[in-house]
Amino acid sequence: MSVGQTATSAAEAARELDVVLHVNGDAHTLRLDPRVSLLDALRERLGLTGTKKGCDHGQCGACTVLVDDRRVHACLTLAVMVQGAKVTTIEGLARGEELHPMQAAFVTCDGLQCGYCTPGQILSAIGLVHEGHAKTDDEVREEMSGNICRCGAYSNIVSAVQLARRKGAAS
Ligand code: FES
Ligand code: FES
Repeated sequence: MSVGQTATSAAEAARELDVVLHVNGDAHTLRLDPRVSLLDALRERLGLTGTKKGCDHGQCGACTVLVDDRRVHACLTLAVMVQGAKVTTIEGLARGEELHPMQAAFVTCDGLQCGYCTPGQILSAIGLVHEGHAKTDDEVREEMSGNICRCGAYSNIVSAVQLARRKGAAS
């Protein structure tokens, strides 16, 4: 390592902060560069790889998680911004062997295929039902339009959201 690289590493280390993330009911203290995204903190530091990195630019929805029950793009959210908030990822939905009602509805309605987009779809679906934005199929389509699926599972996803809403799956 050159003197210049050593100086750069020291400067970066000096910029790091202790960040406490509350994820799926557990508190984690991480030493992070304040520029680290919530997505990278979840995947690279906490090993929660269920949240997917698709575009890393806020365009595909694969990284959707809930922060205090509201949908956010984890790729566009800095980890330091969610200190003290409740973060929910796909890993935090099931209770042991029992799937969350939205997960069960996706299975029942065959709303998942390759699964790359599915964690974000499910978190987004829970968020929109929680927000009261699933009264009609058109409303579900509009609210889910930020979650891109290349496999064409959309009609089954709408069915799954409505099934879960009818069963009271708002959180
Ligand atoms: S990875 Fe965040 S929106 Fe695509
Ligand atoms: S199920 Fe394949 S991208 Fe969505």
